[in-house]
Amino acid sequence: MYQDKVEQIKTDISQAQADTPEELEAYRMKYISKKSVVGELFAEMRLIPNEQKKAYGQTVNEVKQLAEAKFQELIERVNIQKSQVKASGIDLTLPATHVAVGGIHPLTATRQRIIDIFERIGFNLSEGPEIEDDWHNFTALNFPENHPAREMQDTFFIEKNPDIALRTHTSSVQVRVMENERPPIRTLSPGRVFRNEAISARAHCIFHQVEGLYVDENVSFADLKQTLYHFAKEMFGKHTKVRFRPSYFPFTEPSAEIDISCQLCGGKGCNICKGSGWVEIGGSGMVDPNVLENCNIDSEKYTGFAFGMGIERIAMLKYQINDLRLFTENDIRFLKQFRSFL
Ligand code: PHE
Repeated sequence: MYQDKVEQIKTDISQAQADTPEELEAYRMKYISKKSVVGELFAEMRLIPNEQKKAYGQTVNEVKQLAEAKFQELIERVNIQKSQVKASGIDLTLPATHVAVGGIHPLTATRQRIIDIFERIGFNLSEGPEIEDDWHNFTALNFPENHPAREMQDTFFIEKNPDIALRTHTSSVQVRVMENERPPIRTLSPGRVFRNEAISARAHCIFHQVEGLYVDENVSFADLKQTLYHFAKEMFGKHTKVRFRPSYFPFTEPSAEIDISCQLCGGKGCNICKGSGWVEIGGSGMVDPNVLENCNIDSEKYTGFAFGMGIERIAMLKYQINDLRLFTENDIRFLKQFRSFL
């Protein structure tokens, strides 16, 4: 029955809206032009039985008039809006100006991910000063005076006072925590550190570390390994392998370098891991009893493990960034890629 269809078209026409020239044109195409729904009604005249043709013709003519009346109404409305826009000087039809949305810096995102992982297994956060004294950065950590290990750290000293330096690692914060708290201690120290190194794709004089410390009765190397296995799998994914390589730090004994399976080649060997399938993410070890004693913790009763990792290094592996300098150059094209983080 054509009546239903016609009624629907009439309702649609009376409810039609147009606020812009584009919407007006859309209305014209739909209800006025030859190919419009009204035009179609005329074309369908030939399908109507002869005795109904007259009534049908009248109905369709009514629809046509309705559509045209509405069209005039809409034209006026759009014209009025245009003149109002002119009068107010604001063109409400213009697209909105684009507001650049900021994002989380990839280093901040990485630091936060690391913190989240360790907080879930009971580590708290600790912070300390970036300008440190010799005791917290070196002496309490079992660096003997004039020991070559001090040279390894490429320290920036404050002129005129060799006792004061920019901290070379956040192990200094761990000393502060051990001096002020009693075991059990489980703490994570993220922060900025400084070393006098030439800036390149792989090294910078300012970078970020996260160091962890666990001191309690019966803490063993097995605990250290399990904790770092857990971290590596949470951070890089279940299939990540971890290996420990014997190393040396004055403040830990035994000491080990922590490697994970290369994230780029999955351990097969590529130019990032220099063909070995492994990449280093940090250092670790059992806290040297001398360090515990320096902080007045009974080394007969307590043991501890510590580890330290570079946040830049972790971020580079996680997001396959091949140049450390990108983190500090603030190139919007680089930073934009991390806009959806966190
Ligand atoms: N502090 C060491 C560094 O900066 C890392 C480390 C921390 C090693 C804790 C062992 C234990 O290189």
